[in-house]
Amino acid sequence: MIALLERLARPFLHRFDPEEAHRIALRALQWAPLPAARPDDSRLAVRAFGLNFPNPVGLAAGFDKNGEVPDALLRLGFGFVEAGGVTPRPQAGNPRPRLFRLDADGAVINRLGLNSEGAAVVLRRLAARAHLGGIVGINLGPNKDSADRTADYVRLVEGFAPVVSYITINVSSPNTPGLRNLQEAKSLDDLLARVIAARDRVRAHAGPTPLLLKIAPDLSLVDLDDIVGVARNRRVDGMMVGNTTVTRPPSLREREKAIEQGGLSGKPLFPLSTRMLAETYVRLEGAMPIIGVGGIDSGDAAIAKLRAGATLVQLYSGLVFHGLALVHSIKQALLAQAEKGPLAEIVGMDAADITAQPWPV
Ligand code: FNR
Repeated sequence: MIALLERLARPFLHRFDPEEAHRIALRALQWAPLPAARPDDSRLAVRAFGLNFPNPVGLAAGFDKNGEVPDALLRLGFGFVEAGGVTPRPQAGNPRPRLFRLDADGAVINRLGLNSEGAAVVLRRLAARAHLGGIVGINLGPNKDSADRTADYVRLVEGFAPVVSYITINVSSPNTPGLRNLQEAKSLDDLLARVIAARDRVRAHAGPTPLLLKIAPDLSLVDLDDIVGVARNRRVDGMMVGNTTVTRPPSLREREKAIEQGGLSGKPLFPLSTRMLAETYVRLEGAMPIIGVGGIDSGDAAIAKLRAGATLVQLYSGLVFHGLALVHSIKQALLAQAEKGPLAEIVGMDAADITAQPWPV
């Protein structure tokens, strides 16, 4: 029923400017009387970072930036939802237009610039639903004009730890100038030391909140060596690979929109983000689980992420082109896979082979 309604709604939504369509979709989710999700088959269950995920398919950061509809999204079948990115103080982000749909490519370019209603509002919303359960994480970013970005993350970790299931440290959004520099080894080491100390400080009342690090797909392998080394050394709970790319694959068909500044996501991001996932997996040597994100638009793509090294997956852009029915079809494909043997057994199976292939363009 939901899938049918949604199939009818998508052509309608695609007539609007992408940001307006997103706003309408959020309002619809807020008001739709959605039934509770059917319990997932136990073969889809995944335990990672000390959390029990009913299924491994998550909603990536950026869709529910202000934590307005996490429970509606869980009811639609996601195994977990990542709200945010949220910044300490409210900020407007970049001027519009700042969100572009590349229909022929199944891709999106965004330069939203971490538009956020700010931590106080989002915190209040997530605190009000915390008793409902379900895995809801938060994605954190600093204010653009912040004098001390590390202090921003620290404050956010202390505030959100009591009300969320996990926290993602986002140092990889391409639309906040200089943010990606925090991936440089020395800065990252300092940042992780401080956010982990903050998490541990509030542990007594917040409980054990896993901290995940979300990286860009555009790193050099030398940088990735450093980042994985720092993440392992600081005992981050997991990594997320990855964010949007500032590169533009030559295969893009919507040439006019492709020149828009911002981060590219969706199908054309799949080869690069999956390669970076495999590269991260081989460097981590099983030290922590990875969430694979980037260009998932089918069950096969989700399984390919698992085989490249992901324990869990997330998606966003695929929803824009395939609708919420995509979540169900990915879970069906994973279940068919699980019938052959536990999903955990295929995690990382292809990683070594992928890293031996020519770099994807
Ligand atoms: C994003 N993404 C994102 N990531 C993040 O860490 N914090 C954020 O606030 C946002 N915001 C955001 C807005 C929009 C409009 C898009 C399209 C994306 C990145 C997102 O979480 C994901 O990493 C990438 O989009 C790649 O996955 P998909 O979209 O190819 O499935």
